[in-house]
Amino acid sequence: MKRVVIIGAGPCGLVALKEMLESGHDAILFERSATLGGAFATTTIYPNLHLTISNWAMAFSDFPPSERLCYPSGEEYLRYLQSYAEHFDLEHHITYHSEVCSATLGHNSRWALEIRQLQEKNILRIEADAIIVATGANQVPNKIPQELAGFGGRVIHSSQYNDGFKRDVADKKLHVLVVGGGESGADVSAELGELSPNVTVWLRRSSCVGPRYLNAINEMEQVAVNKTCDFPANGFLEAATTNRMSAGQNVYAYGFFRRLLWHTSVLNRTLSRMCLDSTASAFVMNDQATYVTKNQCMYEALHEKKIEVLVSQNVLASDRTCEFQMRDGTTERREFDAIVLCNGYRMEFPWLQVEKFNSNPRSWFLHCFPKGLGHCLFFVGYARPHQGGIPVMAEILSRYIALLLHGERTLPPGYADQARCDAEAEREYYFLSPDLHSLVDYNAFLESVARRVGCEPILPAFCVLLFNLHLLAVLMLLLDYFNLNPNTLGPWFSTLLWAVTMAGFFLFDNGLLIKWWFYPNWAVWYRQRGPGAVPALPGTVMRRVNLWTATAITEGFILLILWSVPILYAQRLLSILLFIPYTVLTALGLSFPKAWGGLLRPKLFVLHSAQWRIFDLFLP
Ligand SMILES: Cc1cc2nc3c(=O)[nH]c(=O)nc-3n(C[C@H](O)[C@H](O)[C@H](O)COP(=O)(O)OP(=O)(O)OC[C@H]3O[C@@H](n4cnc5c(N)ncnc54)[C@H](O)[C@@H]3O)c2cc1C
Ligand SMILES: NC(=O)c1ccc[n+]([C@@H]2O[C@H](COP(=O)([O-])OP(=O)(O)OC[C@H]3O[C@@H](n4cnc5c(N)ncnc54)[C@H](OP(=O)(O)O)[C@@H]3O)[C@@H](O)[C@H]2O)c1
Repeated sequence: MKRVVIIGAGPCGLVALKEMLESGHDAILFERSATLGGAFATTTIYPNLHLTISNWAMAFSDFPPSERLCYPSGEEYLRYLQSYAEHFDLEHHITYHSEVCSATLGHNSRWALEIRQLQEKNILRIEADAIIVATGANQVPNKIPQELAGFGGRVIHSSQYNDGFKRDVADKKLHVLVVGGGESGADVSAELGELSPNVTVWLRRSSCVGPRYLNAINEMEQVAVNKTCDFPANGFLEAATTNRMSAGQNVYAYGFFRRLLWHTSVLNRTLSRMCLDSTASAFVMNDQATYVTKNQCMYEALHEKKIEVLVSQNVLASDRTCEFQMRDGTTERREFDAIVLCNGYRMEFPWLQVEKFNSNPRSWFLHCFPKGLGHCLFFVGYARPHQGGIPVMAEILSRYIALLLHGERTLPPGYADQARCDAEAEREYYFLSPDLHSLVDYNAFLESVARRVGCEPILPAFCVLLFNLHLLAVLMLLLDYFNLNPNTLGPWFSTLLWAVTMAGFFLFDNGLLIKWWFYPNWAVWYRQRGPGAVPALPGTVMRRVNLWTATAITEGFILLILWSVPILYAQRLLSILLFIPYTVLTALGLSFPKAWGGLLRPKLFVLHSAQWRIFDLFLP
């Protein structure tokens, strides 16, 4: 049992606390504010915010929401966190109004912490074996970009955006410049566009957008409908981006499919044009090379001419005037009353007294274990999935940390070197977002850590058999076509086997295999086995979404099936042929041109040291 101090009572700190307590560690959490919830309990979350992932995808693995699937508001998610803390009796272990202001590692290999008690106004000194840092990647707003430093009007950050500001904009029809096209930029610009005709967005480059709702209705209408109507399980963006069928393809096939989607009617033309522009230099990898704004309302507002969007790499502000150098060589000049900075946040750990500490999460193994300190200093909340919840990443890491502290698992001996290789692969992979160092691939990250914990989900043996028989049927059909099938039963047998196994996919346990492939990879799957398992839970949750009523047969979904099923077959059959030469060549020290595997490996195994094993070839 170790004495563990957790810093921060946001979602990531809460789950770390719960996991430490559950595994028997002596854990205590310090939170500088008066309440739990982190970013979701402060003004950082502006009014009317709806999350970009569903309540089920944002939920912890052993505490699925009782509500139907929907995109929750910021307040609803905060209530979920409060009920989580209540359910696992966490409040007793949290000390509020307590800001950690110094942490030093002593010669006795214990941390000495100083905690400023904001109400009592004194300093508490304690020791601990380990620290879990959960102070949030979205706590310290970025400063105004250098180019706009000369601006003379009002400047606020999205974390200060509130109803008072909106009233001013609406009453005085202010000219507002919104900086940035992430999710804050999208929400803020679209909302301001409704209040004033003078809203301009400045982007350094077009941002890449994934529509939050996978149907053709306007984003604002969707948010309203979301409150009352049941959306199908495959109608959420996370279903398209975290499903296992897609994760089984190589990155190029996966990325190319996004490009195809951008040409369908799911998106309006302005949105398609901006998305295609944003990834023009990543033709095949496409949206995989950058973070994606999971909210299309900014480009809808642009399409409806409610806002203006200027994409420019060179801007200069002087008093109220901003000059934008456009790509075509022209200059656009605008006057603004105010700027809303939606340029994100930076990470700072001023209280950490460690010499030459590298605060880039990519320098930490699995965005968690810093070099030389991986046994006693852990970071959770610094793995931001391309799609999916940050808290879910923190949960699986916390489960791993709990085992490490008990000595039941060990970090790989060269974990710092491994982190360096992983960082290089991530830099190369996410090359269109060079400043976003926390970005990770949801499925690959979960899988990599789950294998270390021993909780990677597996389907019932019958599903595995069904899948392999189906694959065999496909192979035999191919051989039949080329008259190469040694089987004397003829093509009718292959066809029958194909049809029977296909029917089995739909009929076994209300289409469990179909849900496994095409529904989001919800965290609840990772409670099926391993330490802290609740084996019946994934089945119970899966049965809450009935295959026949919770699946919408939309244009996008049909495209997904038509694209991904043949690719999966081809990828598997090819992988089975290539795996052995690949393993032998890698063992001989031959390096492949892409650090993350490029064309050869399924996306599930491209990043974050997620290991590709021979029996993965035969798992659905
Ligand atoms: C507007 C907005 C919307 C978002 N929506 C989503 C979403 O839909 N999905 C998603 O996954 N993520 C979303 N995020 C990201 C969100 O920040 C994280 O998912 C989540 O808050 C991460 O939790 P955390 O515990 O790491 O950090 P935080 O929630 O930021 O919590 C950190 C806590 O640490 C405390 N703290 C900091 N320093 C100290 C110290 N020295 N001593 C003591 N306490 C300290 C802070 O007071 C705070 O309570 C959103 C962020 C913003 C800003
Ligand atoms: N509804 C929601 O659920 C919701 C809402 C808001 C925020 N969030 C979450 O909160 C976190 C922060 O989101 P965010 O939108 O605030 O930040 P973000 O995702 O980091 O996006 C920052 C934006 O600002 C731009 N930018 C950064 N530095 C700049 C500079 N110096 N000059 C010009 N532009 C600059 C970036 O451009 P480049 O693309 O060129 O780098 C990007 O468009 C994310 O995890 C996000 O998912 C969620």
